[in-house]
Formats: sequence, C-alpha cells, structure tokens
Amino acid sequence: MAFPDTFLDELAARTDIVELISRYVTLKRRGGSMIGLCPFHSEKTPSFTVSPDKQAFHCFGCGEGGYAVQFAQKIENLDYVDAVRFLAERAGMRLPEYSDDPAERRLRERLYLLHTEAARFYHGNLMSGENPYALEYLTRRGVAARTIRVFGLGVCAPGVDSLVRAMTALGFTKEELIAGNLAVAGGRGDIVDRFKNRLMFPIISVQKKVIAFGGRLTGDGQPKYLNSSDTPIFAKGRQLFALNLAKSSKQKGLLLAEGYMDVIALHQAGFDNAVASLGTALTDKQAELIRKYSGGEVTITYDSDAAGRAASERAAALLNKADVKVSVLSLDGAKDPDDFLQLYGAAALRLRLEERESHMSHKLAQLAAEVDIQSDDGRVEFLKKAAAVLAGVNNEVEREIYTARAAAIADVTKEAVALEVGRLNAGTRRKAQFREQRDSARIGGRESKAMRAETEFIRLAIDDPELARTVAAELRPVDFETGFLGEAWARILSGTQSNLSMSQFFTEEQTRYMSKALVRPKSPEQIEKALGDCLDTIIQESAIRASDSPEITRAMLGAKKKKRYGEKE
Ligand code: GTP
Ligand code: MN
Repeated sequence: MAFPDTFLDELAARTDIVELISRYVTLKRRGGSMIGLCPFHSEKTPSFTVSPDKQAFHCFGCGEGGYAVQFAQKIENLDYVDAVRFLAERAGMRLPEYSDDPAERRLRERLYLLHTEAARFYHGNLMSGENPYALEYLTRRGVAARTIRVFGLGVCAPGVDSLVRAMTALGFTKEELIAGNLAVAGGRGDIVDRFKNRLMFPIISVQKKVIAFGGRLTGDGQPKYLNSSDTPIFAKGRQLFALNLAKSSKQKGLLLAEGYMDVIALHQAGFDNAVASLGTALTDKQAELIRKYSGGEVTITYDSDAAGRAASERAAALLNKADVKVSVLSLDGAKDPDDFLQLYGAAALRLRLEERESHMSHKLAQLAAEVDIQSDDGRVEFLKKAAAVLAGVNNEVEREIYTARAAAIADVTKEAVALEVGRLNAGTRRKAQFREQRDSARIGGRESKAMRAETEFIRLAIDDPELARTVAAELRPVDFETGFLGEAWARILSGTQSNLSMSQFFTEEQTRYMSKALVRPKSPEQIEKALGDCLDTIIQESAIRASDSPEITRAMLGAKKKKRYGEKE
C-alpha cells in the first residue's frame, strides 16, 4: 500500500533517527555524524554512521542503510507497512487507513456540519438583500435565481470575522473553524475569516455534503479565486465541481470545463452533465472519477486560449490512459463556455456538440496537416507521430478505429500501422524494464559522470528543495540518466518534503544507495554553486545521450563550456 505523502512527512517530522537508533546502538558524535558498532554485522571498529541532518544511516562495513523506516524494518524484522506502523505508534500517530479513531471521526462529522452551516450562512447573506452588489453581479452575468439556489451560491461580507462570529454562535470552536480552513489565525490569538468579500461557490461531494468552498472576488484584485486548502474532509485533486449534480444527468457522458462559472452557465443552459476540475490541472484521481461517473465518455471544453488548449491536450492524454473516450469541443469565437453561451446561446452550443470531433481524429488531422502527406517522407513522418499518439490510447476499440483512420490518411495498410503501434507499446515497456535493470547495475558498478552529478544534486535538493526548484526550474526528470534519481527529482518538484515520502516507491537497493550518499559529509562549497554545477552536468550529459553523434556533441559542449568559464585550452 502507499501512504499519503502528508502522512509520511508528518511521521518524518516526529521521528528522530538518532533517538530511534540510540535505543539499539551506542552512538558517539564524530564531526557532523554519529557513529557506532553496526547492529547488522559484527565488527570491532565502528563503521555504522548516522546523519542527524539527513535522518539517514549507512554502514560502510556491510553496506546496510536507509532511513528510519528501513532501520526499524531491519532491526525489528518487520515489513515496510509494519515498520511504518511501528514508527507511527512511537510518534503517537495513527496509520491513515486506520483513522476510524473516534476523535478524528468526530472532527470530520463536525466539519461536515460546519460546512453545511457556513454554506447556509453565505447563501443567506446573498439572498437577504444586505449585499445587493453580489446579487447584481450574478444577475449581470446572467445567473438565474433558480441556478443560485441549485448551486447554493452565496457571498461573504467584507467584514473580517462575520463567519467566525456566526459559526461560534452556533457552537463551533476555533479549532474546528481552522481545521476546516474557513478561518485563519489573526493577531492576538483570535481568528479571522479566511474568505472575505467574495462570491462563494460551495463544493459538494457525490455524497451531497458540502466539503469546501471556492470564492471569487467580484471586483479587481488578487487572487481572483480562492479555494479551500485540503482538510480532513477535502482533497482538491480528488473532487470535481458539480459532480454531485452531473452524476445523475440523463445526458451521455460528462462535459469537462475549467471554471466554476463555466459549469454554472452550462447547467443553466441545460448541459447538466458539466463538471470542472478545481482550478488545477486534471489529476489522475479526477480522471478515475470521470471514468466512473461518465460511462467512459467525456467532452473537454476548456478555454480556447493557448493555455486552455495545452491543458486540454494534457487532460486528454490522462483520460485516454484512464480508458475514457475523449472528444474536444471547439469554442472558436469565444473565450470559454460561459462566454460562448452569452454570445451565441444554448442552441449553438448544442450544434457544436453534435459536430464535435473526437480528440483522436482531431489530433490525426492536425498531424497530417503538419507534413506534406503526398510525399513519401511526409507519410513516413506522419505515421511515426500518429503511432506514438495511438500507443497512448488504452481503449482497444478506440485504438483500432483510429489505427484504421491513420492508415487511410497515409494510404498504407492497417496492419502496418498496428505493427508500429505495437512495437512502440512493447518498446515503452521494455525501456522501463531496461532502465530499472540498468539503474541496478549502476548502483553496483562504477558511477558514471552523470550519475555522480545526479546523486549530488538530489542530495543538495533534499537539503533545500525550495532553492533547488528555483535554481533548476528547467531541469526535467527525464533529463536524468538514472531513472530513480529522476523519479526522486519529480517527487521533490511535486512538493514531497521528507526522505520517507520521497523514497516510498524506491527499491531497497535504491534506498540504500541514496542514504549512503546522504550520510557522506557535506561538501564545503556553497550549495547554490554546487547545485548549478550538477545541473550543468546533468543537462549536458543528457544532450550528449540524445544526440546522434555523442562524441562530436561532447567535444563541442566541452569547448563551449571552457570558453564560457574563460579557461585555458
Ligand atoms: P470568470 O472569470 O468568473 O468567468 O471565471 P472563470 O471560471 O472563467 O475563470 P478562469 O477561466 O479565469 O479560471 C478557471 C478556473 O481556474 C476558475 O474557475 C478557478 O477554479 C481557477 N482559478 C482562476 N483564477 C484563480 C486564482 O487566482 N487562484 C486559484 N486558486 N484558482 C483560480
Ligand atoms: Mn469565464
């Protein structure tokens, strides 16, 4: 099983590896590290090293190593899950899947209640006429009274603590308001409303419980939208706005939009199968939800600007992988679905929807337009790209249909295209396997230049992830030669905080390799310079690997680098 990163981060914060290991091994300080006699093999002089900074251990005698979890596994002879449980108990934490702890369950119940009451309060504020500007704003945007009711829209007054006061009067505590992210600490120990002076959009789960809010400023200012952060009852990446309504729509499939206002306008115009991801890029959990509630068909209707088109490509690929049939609705002539409906009306959108293209046929047409399809070279080029796209389609029927389509466009047999697609699919699988084996060989053998830089880079990035993300903003996980180090970078980029959460998907061998690198004494240079140097090497080595003539590229890059630093030949 996988543990949530937040749980492992918390566990890491509450666990001190030195304190843990000291219960089994007598440790003495040496420099920045602690050393002792290895509990995993017999030795007379200590080579077992623990790094308090890195919260890692490594034995230079027998090669055993890892983090707190691995130590607990080895010393107590536990499997990974039991070792996590063991540490969690010491830290006074509960495993997430066992969180039917009565106190936590009670908090969740209170938070549901709090959100229901808050939604009622905000809605009351809107309807009472005390905040006429909010109602005027909605009317100006064409939102009907019935729609306001169906979505439970509301408004929070400009005051600093009107919600806090109303909810406190109903018996909710400060702690509950903060846990629900509806209030934040103010000065002098009191709390203030998190949402101020905003139109409020309740986010409602498929179980029909209010679990969070989005809030929009009606005037200028930043941020335009503010959303609830994750709470015990809300995980943003696992919810879709309006799925509570769309799931019982009679219409086929789901319509996926970007914004709250798009969904609201779509529902009002009769497209009650519209949902939106909550202001973030679609996640794979949301793709799963869509598969579950859409009957396997979705139409993406994102904003028509470049950002919207790019987001729509990404969402389509994710949904294809989740075995969902994807079409893309073109909104030429309008900014977003809401705008389209204001300008052209529901009938026009219905028409566009009927004429909509599947994402695949659109993509194939696009690829064909990029080459000279009459020429042999053009057709070869087209087929290569088409096969790559088709290889990403998980649905067999769909893949079959569009394989035939691509073959027709390039005027070759269907079998030829299918062969290429199959080869790519097998290739991807083989590549992944190959990478893992190669990583494993590298760990055992001599480190390449790239791997040394990559290891050092990750080591520094763990020290200061913020800085690493800034210095190496352009570094992509695929630039890494060593697969699992690239994976580590991807996890750091996505905000992983502790080495426990970073390494939970690593093999034992990979964890041991990383912890060994971590306990090495820190280099004296400035971290920023060191990060920069590693970055140069990783990028350079990656360019060399990708080029057709590695030796020439290496020579050229070497020359350029020397010139840049003004070194002598
Ligand atoms: P209107 O401007 O009212 O038409 O809203 P919209 O829904 O069309 O907004 P837009 O296309 O600008 O953004 C789409 C979605 O991204 C919104 O519905 C929000 O969920 C999210 N979003 C937009 N701006 C922000 C922001 O400043 N912060 C956050 N967290 N999310 C935002
Ligand atoms: Mn809009």
